[in-house]
Amino acid sequence: MIEITTLSELTIDGKLALHRAASSKDLFDYSSDELKAWFHGQRASADAIMVGANTVRVDDPWLTVRHVAGRNPLRVIPSSDGRLPLTSALLNDGLPTLIAVAGRATAATVAALEAMPAVEVIRCGDHSVDLPALMDRLEARGVRSLVVEGGSTLLSSLFGQDMVAKIVIKHIPIISGDPEAPTYLTPTPRPGFAPRLSRWRMTEWFVKGGIGVSVYVRENAP
Ligand SMILES: NC(=O)c1ccc[n+]([C@@H]2O[C@H](COP(=O)([O-])OP(=O)(O)OC[C@H]3O[C@@H](n4cnc5c(N)ncnc54)[C@H](OP(=O)(O)O)[C@@H]3O)[C@@H](O)[C@H]2O)c1
Repeated sequence: MIEITTLSELTIDGKLALHRAASSKDLFDYSSDELKAWFHGQRASADAIMVGANTVRVDDPWLTVRHVAGRNPLRVIPSSDGRLPLTSALLNDGLPTLIAVAGRATAATVAALEAMPAVEVIRCGDHSVDLPALMDRLEARGVRSLVVEGGSTLLSSLFGQDMVAKIVIKHIPIISGDPEAPTYLTPTPRPGFAPRLSRWRMTEWFVKGGIGVSVYVRENAP
């Protein structure tokens, strides 16, 4: 079973970004160099890293290991219809990227993605990407650990299916104040995937450069 760790940066008012459709890179920039290195060390310790399709559209992330020496994990993006901007950084840098699409992705969209350097596409699910089935496919390729960096919709689906074993939260000392900024979990999760009450135990807590980090593990891990 793949161990899934979520890795998030959260404002004091529980937001994943300062505004709606604003990049969460703004939050990362608040960290000290030491904390950036720690955060990227978490990426380096995983076999694979995942963000939702919308985070690719909004943040245009690289999802590589920088700020510290380490190996880049396999990038995995669930995108039901596969409609990601072909100019996205992670589709163009030649590092391995796996796009998981659902049945509704057209052959033309899949072909366009597969034409990008080191990009592979797999089908997993009918309407939206079947995350447990995707985990089985990843496990069959030898992936044992996965870091998920969000956003809200993907996190909600994973918590809604009780798939997360460990939570890491970097507490950014800012209040966004924007009611439209994305929250940790979305107020409208995908039908049937609303997270339920779950209990977590804090196993680590530290402050680096004025920013706290807390780590939780699931009681009775899934
Ligand atoms: N602070 C942080 O740590 C952090 C980290 C990452 C992102 N963010 C922020 O989060 C925001 C984006 O969050 P978001 O909720 O809009 O989008 P998201 O969670 O990044 O992506 C959600 C999208 O993933 C695709 N998807 C495919 N299968 C899915 C499944 N089974 N469950 C859930 N999603 C699935 C869907 O797009 P399709 O229908 O197109 O397939 C869905 O709309 C941005 O503002 C970004 O800056 C913050």
